[in-house]
Amino acid sequence: MSDSTVDYDGLIPNNVGLNADPRLRRALESWHPSYLDWWKARGPDGFQENLVYLRTAIGVDAEGWAKFGYVRMPDYRWGILLAPAVEGRTIGFGAHKGEPAWQEVPGEYRALLRRLVTVQGDTEPASVEQQRRLGATAPSLYDLRNLFQVNVEEARHLWAMVYLLQKYFGRDGREEAEELLRRRSGDRDSPRLLGAFNEATPDWLAFFMFTFFTDRDGKMQLHALAQSGFDPLSRTCRFMLTEEAHHMFIGQSGVGRIVEATCAAMNRVGIDDPSDIERVRALGVIDLPTIQKRANLHFSLTLDLFGSEISSNAANAFQSGLKGRYLEDQIDDDHVLAGAIYPVLRLKDGRIVREDVPALSALNMRLRDDYVADAQSGVERWWNRVIARAGIDFRIALPHVAFNRRIGEFAAIEADPAGTLLSAEEWVRRRAEFLPSAEDDRFVAGLMRPVAEPGKFASWIAPPRTGIDNKPGDFEYVKLAG
Ligand SMILES: [Fe+2]
Ligand SMILES: [Fe+2]
Repeated sequence: MSDSTVDYDGLIPNNVGLNADPRLRRALESWHPSYLDWWKARGPDGFQENLVYLRTAIGVDAEGWAKFGYVRMPDYRWGILLAPAVEGRTIGFGAHKGEPAWQEVPGEYRALLRRLVTVQGDTEPASVEQQRRLGATAPSLYDLRNLFQVNVEEARHLWAMVYLLQKYFGRDGREEAEELLRRRSGDRDSPRLLGAFNEATPDWLAFFMFTFFTDRDGKMQLHALAQSGFDPLSRTCRFMLTEEAHHMFIGQSGVGRIVEATCAAMNRVGIDDPSDIERVRALGVIDLPTIQKRANLHFSLTLDLFGSEISSNAANAFQSGLKGRYLEDQIDDDHVLAGAIYPVLRLKDGRIVREDVPALSALNMRLRDDYVADAQSGVERWWNRVIARAGIDFRIALPHVAFNRRIGEFAAIEADPAGTLLSAEEWVRRRAEFLPSAEDDRFVAGLMRPVAEPGKFASWIAPPRTGIDNKPGDFEYVKLAG
């Protein structure tokens, strides 16, 4: 069997020859019941018996890898899917550049590699847990289906990382795989590993912001790991990226459709001042300043996921050939970075300054810069273009990287979205100008009422241009009757 065909015969669909590896198969099959328990207890609340129009991967080729059909979520075929092997692949960066890519874990880097896989793996079930109650207030069946598609795929990403842990890390790997099901988003005693994955996702605006900003961090991390010299990790991440593209789409188009509904409502009654919040809200749509504040919140929480600007861990992961830069194989330099420098924003004597530092120590900063550029172009293309087309004088802007940070250079200071430093008192006094207030959140929460009729949408979100899998506007994406 070629490695681009997926074997659907066993309990666990895969293209990794699970049948030929009975030990691994037993390990995964014994993890499977705990996984299903996790899905039922901490996956989507309700809707487990409903038929959902989901895509399932049936191959790993660039074309035609998925098929659509009605599935009950617990019956979704979570599987282990790797992008096809690239013959003769070599390590593309770091101290081992040019050597053949590793098919087994290099002993000296075992701990570092296990940590990278575990941290990535921890984020996947976390987001499912964060989103578990959103089904009850979906603004349409189309959006309900998109939520569940993201959920089953994030859960598959958990499988992807558990496969690596169980196949390549023996007993420690099996223990880590259990821990991934034990930690819990937002739990005080046993939280998820990274801050943004312990925050609540209380409403659908938060869901779309999360998929736009936080899933995009996932995309950047997967890109960096897809460059890995450890070939199984690279192939795993390359396939995950094909699924991740749809999550990006859901976030950018979701907020775009909210913005579109707001602008259309304002134009309908002739409101041209976006800061006329009470009148805009009275139309049953979300005012643009509140959308901006939510963007400020999710963007700043997500920046913390990149870690400290100056990091010896990031340097080690690069030098050892485990984690590359974004699009490493398209960068025109020596891929070793000996003597190279990179500009970093730092806090010096109470001021934000640019400083050149060794590029190796600034790899987190570089990945974060690439992230900011990617997010910025999404904001322009999917959100600001909609506002401009509606003729409304407003622009959604990403806040300065020093704004609302808890990790790195700016953790100890406060700044406004323009990057002007504020005293602690000033921050407290003006916080509600920059970040959603309790009242803003209450207003959004008040809009969250489910719309379950095919083809209908809540007042605060516009319908999509086209359906999933080119289905017509009134397609029944989730069969609520049974
Ligand atoms: Fe994921
Ligand atoms: Fe994702």
